[in-house]
Amino acid sequence: SNAKFFVGGNWKCNGSVASVRTLVDELNSGSVPSGVEVVCAPPFIYIDYVMQHLDKDKYQLSAQNCWISGNGAYTGEVSAEQLHDFGVPWVILGHSERRSLCGESNATVAKKTAHALAAGLGVIACVGETLDQRNSGSMFQVLDGQMQALVDEVKDWSKVVIAYEPVWAIGTGVVATPEQAQEVHAYLRQFCQSKLGFGVTDTLRIIYGGSVNDANCKELALMEDIDGFLVGGASLKGSSFVTICNAAG
Ligand code: G3H
Repeated sequence: SNAKFFVGGNWKCNGSVASVRTLVDELNSGSVPSGVEVVCAPPFIYIDYVMQHLDKDKYQLSAQNCWISGNGAYTGEVSAEQLHDFGVPWVILGHSERRSLCGESNATVAKKTAHALAAGLGVIACVGETLDQRNSGSMFQVLDGQMQALVDEVKDWSKVVIAYEPVWAIGTGVVATPEQAQEVHAYLRQFCQSKLGFGVTDTLRIIYGGSVNDANCKELALMEDIDGFLVGGASLKGSSFVTICNAAG
């Protein structure tokens, strides 16, 4: 594909004032190729600090979630409009932890995605199968369902990044092999091409997530349809994350 390499760091619900300060300093001291788009996603409460201190020439900001609609009586939520107003350009939606722990359905994730795009955000939309689904042969059906929900809701794909995150690889240390990841990435690109056309898919970023680290990122980055990474654990260590940002070089 002709997609610009994209690396996201999903800090999840990790960190403290002290550790976020250290991580920002580490990231600022690293060098990132200018042709790579890098996005860091701190917990909401640290976004302000990170925005003030992270080097914006190298890194953009993302939230890890947002509400399904605009402002209103939605206690505990943060809207896409508020993120946009605050200057946060990206949001991660449909992460498997939100699907499994917070009950977000394909339709919910797709509606959130459409709303966030309309509010002016870019969306990192996550899909992926569980180990049971892979082993029982329903992997492609599951992915179809997740993707079709997005296709039904999203009008403009120019600000969407698809993150393929096999659930069995998330936080387990069991990274997909380059061949396993490539097979699914090519499938997802083909799925999008058949629904949306080549114009969309030629530059659509399909990034891989699940136990990516500084040691395994290079061989994954070599695969034709892997356009970047969504990194969890290894994004909490500045030097590892910077290495991953340089994987395509
Ligand atoms: O969003 C990131 C993924 O869930 C991957 O997490 O790198 O800790 O496996 P991980």
